[in-house]
Amino acid sequence: MARSIVITSGKGGVGKTTLTANLGRCLAAMGERTVVLDADIGLNNLDVLLGMDSRIVYDIVDVIEGRCRLRQALVEDIDQAGLYILPSAHSYDKAKISGQHIREVVLRLCQNFDFVLVDCPAGIEAGFKRAVAACEEAVLVTTPHISSVRDAETVMSILLRSGITRIYTVVNRVRGDMILSGEMLTKNDVEKLINAEVYGMIPEEDALNLLSNSFNAGITEGYAACQALARGIMSGTPEVFDLTKKYRGFFGKIKRGLRRRL
Ligand SMILES: Nc1ncnc2c1ncn2[C@@H]1O[C@H](COP(=O)(O)OP(=O)(O)O)[C@@H](O)[C@H]1O
Ligand SMILES: [Mg+2]
Repeated sequence: MARSIVITSGKGGVGKTTLTANLGRCLAAMGERTVVLDADIGLNNLDVLLGMDSRIVYDIVDVIEGRCRLRQALVEDIDQAGLYILPSAHSYDKAKISGQHIREVVLRLCQNFDFVLVDCPAGIEAGFKRAVAACEEAVLVTTPHISSVRDAETVMSILLRSGITRIYTVVNRVRGDMILSGEMLTKNDVEKLINAEVYGMIPEEDALNLLSNSFNAGITEGYAACQALARGIMSGTPEVFDLTKKYRGFFGKIKRGLRRRL
């Protein structure tokens, strides 16, 4: 049976969609058959980010309304074998799709995949509830800013009340140089604030949102950080990439100085 994981956050724009795509690629690269879907029906961010928007024939609403079989709607990623997307509808009447519909689709996907990742819409309204109700586990994304962490804490209690107990907190858009200079919250700071373990520290890095060739080649820090997160989620034991490492030591100091000037 597959694991269904909803990607949530307190604040919008913290990197849920980016992380859903990257985590999906990492899991698939590790041999896990993975499918990603956007619970924000009507907005197709995930499809665009993965570069699949032009190859879409059917979408999730076609599946729910019986116009096609589930298998017909799935699109495989061009670059990463084993990663599929269930496209989001481009326009539709949201009221027609209930939490139960999404849950049924997720359950059906679980029969054919190892991981089902559901990208959650912003906020904690109906779309959020639909996505949460469909999944067993959650990734909770925050940025290393107090206000974002506080909002994540609120979402964590909502998730716990909804019966989701396996929650993997991820800090996105982290700068290792700023952690070292004391200008950014550390992993320990975040853990104290939310009173839970952090499963991932993901750097601020352009390659993560471009999903470029450098990501596929596995040469960026962002890729390594996402892989570590994927391994932690798979094993249940956090494995957090150290983003301060390259800024330590003699050459590290020079890198910090250079980064500061950018
Ligand atoms: N680690 C990162 N490094 C650099 N830019 C990022 C990172 N994560 C997200 N972004 C950028 O931040 C913006 C919001 O990300 P997105 O994934 O759409 O957030 P959400 O889905 O939570 O609203 C996008 O422009 C995205 O490219
Ligand atoms: Mg999004």
